[in-house]
Amino acid sequence: MSEIVVLGSLNADLVVSAERAPEGGETVAGSDFSVFNGGKGANQAFAAAKLGGAVSMLGRVGEDDYGRVLKAGLASVGVSVDGVRCIEGVTTGVAAITVEASGENRIVVVPGANGAYSVEELERDMPLIKGAKIALFQLEIPIETVKKALGIARDASCITILDPAPATALDEAVLTKVDYVTPNLSELSLLAACPLSAESSEAEIVDAARSLLDKGVGKVLAKLGARGAVLVERNGYERIYAVNAKAVDSTGAGDCFNGAFAAALSRGIAAVEAARFACSAASISVTRPGAQSSVPSLDEVLKGV
Ligand code: RIB
Repeated sequence: MSEIVVLGSLNADLVVSAERAPEGGETVAGSDFSVFNGGKGANQAFAAAKLGGAVSMLGRVGEDDYGRVLKAGLASVGVSVDGVRCIEGVTTGVAAITVEASGENRIVVVPGANGAYSVEELERDMPLIKGAKIALFQLEIPIETVKKALGIARDASCITILDPAPATALDEAVLTKVDYVTPNLSELSLLAACPLSAESSEAEIVDAARSLLDKGVGKVLAKLGARGAVLVERNGYERIYAVNAKAVDSTGAGDCFNGAFAAALSRGIAAVEAARFACSAASISVTRPGAQSSVPSLDEVLKGV
């Protein structure tokens, strides 16, 4: 039984690079095309395992080459893929990603098999959740499945971590089952129903995070990109500063952060130190292309390469 279970999406990332993304109705010339292993769930499982965690992935793929390659990629870093099952008649999830010269990305996701990971499908995977110490979730599979799995994890006394991405409004029935929620700025803004931008002050961000504590979340670990992160608890908060990095592709940086955070927690590291480790890992990941392909090794994070 793995210490960390990740329940979520697996996607083939079809990535084009261009100086800038096209406006509506415009065509621009790109410079590069690659297919990477991706999906928020798979990226987080991959990062957690590469950074030292014992990880099981739960998810769904189609009976196609993308699905087979995604499973093999996870297995290559030691992720148990017994809970990654094929669903007949659907394709593996696909993400069309444009990466601009600034490193900024734009993503369109076609869920495919991820969208077919229903509550009924989840029944088969329940024992894997019940045996875990940490359960890590995102929102790229049906919300009803996430809700059900959160309940199972909570009843089994797992530490629950929710990356609320892609951004979706969540009710208290979900939030009260979450020990750590890890939104980026726009997700925090949506969840807290409070306008936030890159210019928002630390105090404004902390206030928004506190409103999620009032809705029943255990702790808020807000990801602030190049500004680092902030860990907000009932009795105070800790600011974590990012390492300076030249971004070439930010795809999957948040996933690397979440996977690294779970891996560090699973080693018994305190939350604030785990968040520092996660910031360092994510800072390195943005200097490299792709999602899983950009996750650093444990050694690189510890050396701050
Ligand atoms: O978070 C990055 C991921 O989002 C990509 O790998 C893509 O698959 C989308 O799910």
